[in-house]
Amino acid sequence: MKPVRMQLAASALVFAMAFPALGRAGDLDSPSTGRGALNAKVEYCTYCHGPSGRGYRGFYTMPRLAGQTPEYLENQLRAFAELRRDRSIPVRMSRVHALKPSMRAALAAHFNGLNPPVVGRGSSEHAGTGRKIYEEGVPETNVPACVACHGPTGMGAGPSPRLAGQLSAYTQKQLLGWSRDRGQDPATVDSSAVMKSIAGSMSKTQVQAVSAYLNSLK
Ligand code: HEC
Ligand code: HEC
Repeated sequence: MKPVRMQLAASALVFAMAFPALGRAGDLDSPSTGRGALNAKVEYCTYCHGPSGRGYRGFYTMPRLAGQTPEYLENQLRAFAELRRDRSIPVRMSRVHALKPSMRAALAAHFNGLNPPVVGRGSSEHAGTGRKIYEEGVPETNVPACVACHGPTGMGAGPSPRLAGQLSAYTQKQLLGWSRDRGQDPATVDSSAVMKSIAGSMSKTQVQAVSAYLNSLK
């Protein structure tokens, strides 16, 4: 079963690379954001983001969208569109994620409302250390407690995303590559700025531990 799913996600990416027009605004949009148009978009999104938006573990790990805060989802879709976040993988994320603003809001509400099971499980070996970092931060290196913004159970709030149940490889990739990927318009300070020094102050081992812990939260 896995290899087939893997091929699907891989071919979705290859397809997006080979036919970049696929994601151009309007290709899959009907004039409205009615149910038919929304369903078509959702199907397109879940092709990469896994059934019910639960994420997908493959060559390129696809992040979980289910249960994510609407504000964070919309912020990211805008960031892709405005090329403030477009460098993480060799596919133009701005094209894949091009949407009308009204469709962004509808999709954000849709994925926020889903609650499928979590993909993967954090390795219990590191989760204890990860929990300590999450709840207390790392005072020696000025890493603040994540709980302050991301909430006691990692469910996020407003612009601070839900981290609970996120695929560990994805969380690691974000934290280790923060400055390379996010906040790419130097003229605009965006919602990603607050994480820049936090991510930059964490060691790889700390990132692995906190990512394992977060994946274990439902
Ligand atoms: C061709 C595959 C593909 C398709 C189709 C796709 N995405 Fe993505 N999406 C990705 C990848 C890969 C990432 C992670 C990029 C990275 O590693 O930073 C991503 C990231 C995101 C993020 C940021 C998640 C986070 O936690 O920061 C959001 C939000 C998102 N996608 C929403 C959508 C929506 C909504 C759709 C449907 C309109 C969609 N995606 C369609 C591949 C895809
Ligand atoms: C002061 C508030 C604040 C603190 C403290 C904080 N974060 Fe964040 N975090 C945010 C915000 C806001 C974002 C959204 C950034 C964006 O819009 O690009 C974010 C985004 C993230 C993301 C990206 C999620 C995704 O789906 O791509 C990860 C991972 C993350 N934070 C982990 C952590 C960890 C681990 C800690 C503790 C070591 C932490 N954060 C502490 C506010 C905070």
